[in-house]
Amino acid sequence: MKVIIVGGGGREHTLAWKLSQSPDVEEVVCAPGNAGTARVGRNAAVGAENIAGLLSLAKEESPGLVVVGPEAPLALGLVDELEALGIRAFGPSAVAARIEASKAFSKTLMDEAGIPTAAYGVFEDAGAARRFVTERGGAWAVKADGLAAGKGVLLCPDAPSAHAAISQIMEQRAFGEAGATCVVEEFLEGEEASFLAFADGETALPMASAQDHKAIGEGDTGPNTGGMGAYSPAPVLSGALEERALETVIKPAIRAMARRGTPYRGVLYAGLMVQGDELKVLEFNCRFGDPECQPLLTRMEGDLLPVLMACVEGRLHETTISYSQDAAVCVVMAAGGYPDDYRKGDPIHGIEDADALPGVHVFHAGTSVNDAGDVVTAGGRVLGVTARGMDIRAAIARAYEASDLIYWEDAYFRKDIGAKALRRLG
Ligand code: AMP
Ligand code: GLY
Repeated sequence: MKVIIVGGGGREHTLAWKLSQSPDVEEVVCAPGNAGTARVGRNAAVGAENIAGLLSLAKEESPGLVVVGPEAPLALGLVDELEALGIRAFGPSAVAARIEASKAFSKTLMDEAGIPTAAYGVFEDAGAARRFVTERGGAWAVKADGLAAGKGVLLCPDAPSAHAAISQIMEQRAFGEAGATCVVEEFLEGEEASFLAFADGETALPMASAQDHKAIGEGDTGPNTGGMGAYSPAPVLSGALEERALETVIKPAIRAMARRGTPYRGVLYAGLMVQGDELKVLEFNCRFGDPECQPLLTRMEGDLLPVLMACVEGRLHETTISYSQDAAVCVVMAAGGYPDDYRKGDPIHGIEDADALPGVHVFHAGTSVNDAGDVVTAGGRVLGVTARGMDIRAAIARAYEASDLIYWEDAYFRKDIGAKALRRLG
């Protein structure tokens, strides 16, 4: 069959790479894709948020499956519209995607399902939000309710900074209408982990554990980004905690969504804060994480297509997945200046040499091909250099060996991806 993948980041290149290995996939079309996906399949010049354009593309191409990478088209109802056309699509409906698209909704769902999460208040009035903070004191995470491209969370060590964050989000509308409602949440200490599962509305099939690196700077300093690197497995989620995350977070969420009459199909991503043997949910996402997808799919054995089809068709209980014993690490190479302003159009050198190393895949994110035929930078996160190794240490070494072979002017990457795993393993 033909598969359309919606999106153009590292996650989508990884999905295209993995799905193109399926004996049942004849062609992969990416909309809009990047320079990497163009090598695996064909790119169609339709943006991931252009719902009308994507529907026309799907009508023209008649794919057997559409796989939606990013959250925005899911929240805009792309899957609902495709299904109405009789086209099978992987991802949650618009109402189910509210688990990510509205932080207030996801908190309500967690309360309803008894899922452990930080104490919070939801406000439509900035004055009421400030009073909530003043009465309680302490440190806060102040969050715009709606989608804000991963930027709508401000971490505040004290009440005055929380007041400023509330003004920024609700009064100055720094993240637009996403900030009309605001969630003020108790600040949680600990180490973050990502736990993802496939879901078909009823059954959940967990993936391996992973950990992202959200901050731009080494040692988790500086502003948050879309993610500067990831690895799997994540030792912070020991076997017992992984089981607990499945039983106390993922399964109750899927059950609660089904009870509401809005069954959840697709990937459910729980962002967890782990402290000792306690875990709490920081957020839900309605899709694969980027860059968590890169190490997860690099480790996943066998064919991904039947798993996605089982989610769409409600047959996940018949399905299993296995993961290689190897570890995998993804180092994100970004354009200098990201997550603020950065330049585009710089020619990238060395991708082939890096890709040729054993166990290495260079997944493209913000790349394109210029008129001269060179692969150039075209986004903030440019490449996800991903390597497998017999353990996390070997995978880290391999990923950095590969990254060091790649060059463009002002390329930036964190040198400490995976360091927390090494510290835990001692
Ligand atoms: P979110 O989009 O809600 O996951 O927030 C983005 C990032 O902000 C998370 O990955 C954490 O690093 C941080 N964060 C969010 N909520 C909290 C919290 N309650 N306590 C501490 N850090 C948080
Ligand atoms: N890596 C974090 C995310 O995809 O939201």
